[in-house]
Amino acid sequence: MSNVDLMNLIQSNVRSLKPYHVENIDCEIKLHANENPFSPSDELLDLLTESIKSFQLNRYPDPDSRNLKYSIAKRLNTDTSRLVIGNGSDEIILLLLQVFCQEGDSIIFPDPTFAMYAIIAKGLGLKPVNIPLDDHWDFDAAELLKVAEENKSRIIFLSYPNNPTGNCFSENEVRKVVENFSGIVVVDEAYYDFARKSFVGEIEKHNNLVVLRSLSKIGLAGLRVGFGVADPLIIDQINKVRLPYNSNTVSQTMAEHLMTHFDPVQKQINSILEERTRLIGELEKFDSLTVYPSDSNFFLFRTEPSADKLFRYLMDNGILVRNLSSHPRLNNCLRITIGTRDENNRFLSKMADYTQTENP
Ligand SMILES: Cc1ncc(COP(=O)(O)O)c(C=O)c1O
Repeated sequence: MSNVDLMNLIQSNVRSLKPYHVENIDCEIKLHANENPFSPSDELLDLLTESIKSFQLNRYPDPDSRNLKYSIAKRLNTDTSRLVIGNGSDEIILLLLQVFCQEGDSIIFPDPTFAMYAIIAKGLGLKPVNIPLDDHWDFDAAELLKVAEENKSRIIFLSYPNNPTGNCFSENEVRKVVENFSGIVVVDEAYYDFARKSFVGEIEKHNNLVVLRSLSKIGLAGLRVGFGVADPLIIDQINKVRLPYNSNTVSQTMAEHLMTHFDPVQKQINSILEERTRLIGELEKFDSLTVYPSDSNFFLFRTEPSADKLFRYLMDNGILVRNLSSHPRLNNCLRITIGTRDENNRFLSKMADYTQTENP
């Protein structure tokens, strides 16, 4: 029998981390994870079923995801040498930190933003630094650059649109950052399909720019596919640290089908965008709520007096949203992902019931 002091073996960066809490509560209506509420279209599923017959699942996947890269390169009008495929775009965040940072280095981002930038950085012994977003959830490029310089930050992360605030930062400020920073600027476009604003077109002009995209928000969250677009030199360095089979055969194939048969997904996106307008319009009618504008498939709202109470009420009624109240800037804020029309109606009707019982 062994009784090794395991805690003592664990490296200090990991020991001091708190586990990342992913809500996985069994709720009928899941509006908490910014997923696509629609299943993949029949057309996509038929294509996958057909492909599965020819899969050689006893063989390793294509380590270079070549077919998937061709389909992405064509859609984005870029070259495959500028692409890397990740097991989710999360993985590419990790790979970028491995390529560009050493223990003790800092990375920087405006806050609040996507929590994984800081979490992955801390796990690698890096120092996450942030500057606060202003009251419109935007930032000033000069200030960000100044703090980045003071901290000798190696990478700036900009979630564009920003999760969880939902908005795209001012295009001009982002451009100033890309043009004036002498480190790497990651523009994380995980929600691009809902914003349709992108910096991909600037990749060839700026060799320090990396754009990230994800297929998780448009229907393939369960398959974990993300990709990065960057200068070929950066891609080559990422490939040195990337595990060779990071993207499996099923994910590569389904993602390729999605890229080459985008119409059904585009219809789903259009419907999400229509529902976003409707849902925000309806919520704005509630006096007790402040609803923030969104370029994403989710939006943020503040509720007085207690987001915790509303969160629990919705959960008790089978609706799971994201409670962000623990963040100092997001006091009493909830984030809701746009669902199907029926799901959104259920949410709206529960909101009306709640407001009536709270203010009879
Ligand atoms: C801004 C942002 N970037 C990246 C990701 C990660 O996406 P993926 O599922 O591709 O790892 C998310 C997921 O929520 C996100 O909000």
